[in-house]
Amino acid sequence: MTGVWNDGQDAKCTTIEERIKDSVVNHPQLATSKDPSLENSSASLIDAAGPYSTRQSGVEGARILEVGCGGGFLSEGLARRGAIVTGLDPSVETIKIAESHRRSSIESLSPSDSTRRSLDRLHYIHGEVEEIKNNPWIRSASDESKEDRKTLPDHQFDIVVASEVIEHVNNPETFFRHCADCVKPGGLLIITTPNRTPLSYLLVIAFAEYVLRLIPVGTHYYSKFIKPAEIKKMGEQNGFSHLETRGTFYIPIFNKWITEPTTWVTYMTALRKLETPER
Ligand SMILES: C[S@@+](CC[C@H](N)C(=O)[O-])C[C@H]1O[C@@H](n2cnc3c(N)ncnc32)[C@H](O)[C@@H]1O
Repeated sequence: MTGVWNDGQDAKCTTIEERIKDSVVNHPQLATSKDPSLENSSASLIDAAGPYSTRQSGVEGARILEVGCGGGFLSEGLARRGAIVTGLDPSVETIKIAESHRRSSIESLSPSDSTRRSLDRLHYIHGEVEEIKNNPWIRSASDESKEDRKTLPDHQFDIVVASEVIEHVNNPETFFRHCADCVKPGGLLIITTPNRTPLSYLLVIAFAEYVLRLIPVGTHYYSKFIKPAEIKKMGEQNGFSHLETRGTFYIPIFNKWITEPTTWVTYMTALRKLETPER
């Protein structure tokens, strides 16, 4: 199955989560207002848990790295909310789609539109998070131009978000550590992922992959699902304090994600990097 932007661009790599984020971050209200009350995206968790929550837009002005940005749904949504976003993904194909969507979004806006300026500050690069510390200039997705390289930020960010990525990597602890290294002291790390419970097996794998065919069969391995306590422990081991974990749940008939109090299926966790990591 492929994810598709609202304007029809095919985002390949994709999970149902991306489709939902598409509907969330491309929601006209989110695109045109700074209303942080939309509860359905990782952006809302950042608003609620972040040091930026007192601002009009929870992420405005924050430097954000989205690790595993895929087709760029969340990155573009965050940029539209005023964040200075770098989207990172090892898939050249998806990141080209993300960049092409960014460009067509810019072209559709008038030069005086502030969203246009926000999208000018969105950059996509292709590579793995493991590479970024030693080589923050890993290949630019746009066109490898020197101009892009000059404007790419250094490797530590106010917020790092990895949405539906950690359950796909070979070594989650190593992946987490590299994400953690990219957060500046006092900054936030946001992880979204499925929990490892019988209910998540039933809904995310059996139902979504085999029955509804919303996700390609074989996308997820149950043994790679991670419990919230395991993420929390990885945070503590890497010098983070746990701020909040919220359950998320997809309602197919409304094509929407909602946040919910239990974390039985999928969840989002926010962690803050200690100013002086206790490692
Ligand atoms: C399931 S997709 C999630 C896309 C997007 N974050 C979302 O939630 O809509 C997982 C993405 O993680 C990327 N990925 C896998 N390993 C990675 C790594 N080590 N560093 C950065 N991205 C990675 C994949 O290329 C893929 O695009």
